[in-house]
Amino acid sequence: MNKDKIIVKNAHTNNLKNIDIEIPKHKLVVFTGVSGSGKSSLLFDTIYTEAQRQLVETFSTFARTRMPKLSRPDVDDILNLSTAIVIDQKRMGNNLRSSAGADF
Ligand SMILES: Nc1ncnc2c1ncn2[C@@H]1O[C@H](COP(=O)(O)OP(=O)(O)OP(=O)(O)O)[C@@H](O)[C@H]1O
Ligand SMILES: [Mg+2]
Repeated sequence: MNKDKIIVKNAHTNNLKNIDIEIPKHKLVVFTGVSGSGKSSLLFDTIYTEAQRQLVETFSTFARTRMPKLSRPDVDDILNLSTAIVIDQKRMGNNLRSSAGADF
């Protein structure tokens, strides 16, 4: 299997319509699209959530019972994930949608 790609199978978080996608590793990859098209749903709510869940699974039972329970995101499988770091965008107010003026 090709370890140089993150393989996402059947992502259906929020408004995602059963997305299959292969994301190359060790490259700068950019997701673009209009507000509400599902960029955050794919990256934060699906891929990052699963990376966190897989990471926490490697912790001891002692540590795990002291951490918030992470549920599996709405996706069939994500292969070749490694530890993920999220740098979130600053939100203006509490709106789920990002303001174009606040995205840098
Ligand atoms: N936690 C949630 N619960 C229910 N629906 C959600 C949730 N988060 C996002 N959505 C919906 O899913 C759709 C995709 O939203 P998402 O935030 O992924 O879009 P986006 O491309 O990141 O937009 P933006 O450019 O504004 O950040 C929208 O219709 C949004 O209302
Ligand atoms: Mg977003």
